[in-house]
Amino acid sequence: MDQIRVHGGRPLTGRLPISGAKNAALPLMAASLLTAEPLNLANVPRLADIASMASILRQLGVRIDIAEGIAGGGDTMTLSADEIVSTVAPYDLVRKMRASVLVLGPLLARFGEATVSLPGGCAIGNRPVDLHLKGLSELGATLDIENGYIKASAPSDGRLRGGRVAFPFVSVGATENLLMAAALADGETVLVNAAREPEIVDLARLLTAMGAEIEGAGTDTVHIQGRETLSGAAHRVIPDRIETGTYAMAVGVAGGDVVLEGADGDLIAAVIQTLRDAGVLVEAVEGGLRVVRGADPVVGVDVMTEPYPGFPTDLQAQFMALMSVARGASMITETIFENRFMHVPELGRMGANINVHHASAMVRGVPQLTGAPVMATDLRASVSLVLAGLGAVGDTTISRVYHLDRGYDRLVEKLTACGAAIERLPAERAAAEE
Ligand code: EPZ
Repeated sequence: MDQIRVHGGRPLTGRLPISGAKNAALPLMAASLLTAEPLNLANVPRLADIASMASILRQLGVRIDIAEGIAGGGDTMTLSADEIVSTVAPYDLVRKMRASVLVLGPLLARFGEATVSLPGGCAIGNRPVDLHLKGLSELGATLDIENGYIKASAPSDGRLRGGRVAFPFVSVGATENLLMAAALADGETVLVNAAREPEIVDLARLLTAMGAEIEGAGTDTVHIQGRETLSGAAHRVIPDRIETGTYAMAVGVAGGDVVLEGADGDLIAAVIQTLRDAGVLVEAVEGGLRVVRGADPVVGVDVMTEPYPGFPTDLQAQFMALMSVARGASMITETIFENRFMHVPELGRMGANINVHHASAMVRGVPQLTGAPVMATDLRASVSLVLAGLGAVGDTTISRVYHLDRGYDRLVEKLTACGAAIERLPAERAAAEE
């Protein structure tokens, strides 16, 4: 398997382009199932998870044409679901990526039936889909679990009907599945305690362009007026706020002065405030965000992950890498996933001083990390090790690079262009050097 090797100690300087958001693009792609007309998505990032969603959609019969972006820009994708050949999303595709369950709502709403494999657990926690199922049943669906599959069907006339769905707690994916299903349901749906993430707002924007009437996206109560049919639309994916936060934290770890091109600071206000509290300068500039960290180390700041607009769980590991080299201590509490501290022992191998107690990690900053061979079991944990490596003395080799390929478009190229000493070692070379 490929590895990434980072030679630490170089500050980052220059301009680093931010790609389209993975977690916005995935539901937008699934929304193509809602219409027989083509959907045109611009600024789609080039990622393994995007390819996984494309495989599932193709297997259902969606035609997908991709025009590669020029000069590192995002791809443009045209998705046409005019001839669906199957309403079954099989296990071998769904198990690769939990977001595959986002095809359930649109398939059921448009075709009156869907059979989707249960995604199963994953490295960061149990992650059930009960809220998705409960919500769809409020729209009149019948749902059974058989042989590891969710078998869903609409009422006898084939159409879901509007309803009131009150989520017991916030779920991004369940809100997205329900938004898509409600857009084709008969009548009005109200989602109470809906997720407020920018990716939800982006999906609502697309559904509105397709003809649905949606009020309140971005707040905790969303009203959706369903339509009998939806039309095609053209849409540009929002910039990736998690990628933005990741590279801002990379500058915090390595030091330097970088403009994150295309980044939208409004999408990560809580993160920017936390970085400023830690002593990282973040300012809006023409066309992006400038991030600067000079000679002084950052200082310890406490953080608790929360649903949007709070501090995102998807930046917790990266922030822990930053706090590992802070002056002082930082308490980092994870409230969204029960098992999202897999990076802790790996950071420890690089010299970080971190103690985990239940959902909180006490990080006591050290002056310097040292390079080491490391590996991680999920996307954000892996990138936190890249960040730690950028600030460490010596070489850090990160295994299981496929995790990074799921969510960071051209990571090595982007960091190299800002002066990092980072390279991808193809599997044969990595094996030869072991
Ligand atoms: C989305 O996952 C993101 N994925 C995740 O990004 C992100 O970590 C997460 O939201 C939280 O922000 C995509 O957008 C594709 P949830 P999602 O439903 O929708 C529990 C990354 O690194 N829950 O908001 O699956 C669940 O177990 C990733 O890019 C239920 O109990 O997250 C978790 O504890 C990984 N039952 C909490 O709710 C349900 O039916 C929040 O999960 C659904 C969720």
